[in-house]
Amino acid sequence: MTETLFTNISQLVTPAPGVQRGAAMSDLKVIPDAAMLVSGGVIRWIGPRADASGMVQEHDLGGVAVVPGLIDPHTHAVWAGDRLADFEARVQGVPYEEILARGGGIRSSMRATGAASVDDLVALARPRLEALRASGATTIEVKSGYGMDFDAELRMLHAVRALQSEFGLVPTLLIHVPPTEGRAEYVQAVCHDLIPGVAREGLATAVDVFTEREAFTVDETRAILQAAKAHGLQTKLHADQFHAIGGTELACELGALSVDHLEASGPAQIAALAASDTVATILPGVTLHLGLPAAPGRALIDAGAAVAVGTDLNPGSSPVFSTQLALALAVRLCRLTPAEALTASTVNAAAALGLSDRGALAPGQRADFLALHSPDWRDLPYTLGANPVRNVFVGGSAL
Ligand code: NIG
Ligand code: FE
Repeated sequence: MTETLFTNISQLVTPAPGVQRGAAMSDLKVIPDAAMLVSGGVIRWIGPRADASGMVQEHDLGGVAVVPGLIDPHTHAVWAGDRLADFEARVQGVPYEEILARGGGIRSSMRATGAASVDDLVALARPRLEALRASGATTIEVKSGYGMDFDAELRMLHAVRALQSEFGLVPTLLIHVPPTEGRAEYVQAVCHDLIPGVAREGLATAVDVFTEREAFTVDETRAILQAAKAHGLQTKLHADQFHAIGGTELACELGALSVDHLEASGPAQIAALAASDTVATILPGVTLHLGLPAAPGRALIDAGAAVAVGTDLNPGSSPVFSTQLALALAVRLCRLTPAEALTASTVNAAAALGLSDRGALAPGQRADFLALHSPDWRDLPYTLGANPVRNVFVGGSAL
């Protein structure tokens, strides 16, 4: 097996492997003038350059900082159509929820996506995923959820499968908005037909539900998440985006991997997350694009929760095509420190997907890492609107 020693690393910067909660989120290891040994796609050793020895192939990284590959734990990167008219309406004052209630918004993306073939969806998603990867994402979660019917949901998941190995995708079945009529039958069919079929075909590793006044109730969500668990799938939730109606508490009770959004979370939801193993995933692109309150990232960490950050890339609430930008926005909008934001976008984002083999630069972890343009890693959280990532490495190979 070829061994490569990556050298001329100004700083190697990483959280410890595994989920990091509360104050531990700011504990980064920083090794100046570092080296990293990789073989078989896995990190074998990290340390000061002076301690590296042996006759192995060397790869000179040119004196820049190296950090773990970013993990984007929440995207809706597969969609057809656009939401440009919604955008114009919203900036003139029409609320997102009102557009949805009138049959627009997510429902208009469902009409366009429902009319697209798997090949169309793959072609539309590829450049979006390329943009996320160029921004540093080496693992990307992608949700379904714009299917008008179950066949359309399955086409979305087949599009994710077609792109899965190329981009390191983690697929999630999202139960997004209920039909305008027959919602009880719909929830039954989700539990008895869609979820068992998706589990059988291995088309998703988790099930997510949009729990909100304009979407699913807490009782409907409970039934769906219980069906997911019964079929061996992990669970996640979109909750507290506009109203805290009990989704976060339910997710914590059921041991969901993560609760995502949290813009409307208050002390009760923060306490529930801090007392649970459920990761709190914040999506600051939504705050920027919809002008919503920011999720209480600072309060969550101070309470002891494990916080992750994602782009929520989607056409309606977060057209953010950069995982690095999401990290940088979490610092400005949700008051994370730069160190906490790196932890949130790496090991904690991995935990939000149920993964522990990536997110840190440590022996035994996947050799997914970024060489920045800068010798100082803090350019990663600092930069807005340009790409501070020079090279993306997956399994030790440059992309
Ligand atoms: O995560 N809020 C629900 N779902 C998505 C938005 C999807 C859309 O607007 O198309 C979100 O924000
Ligand atoms: Fe989302």
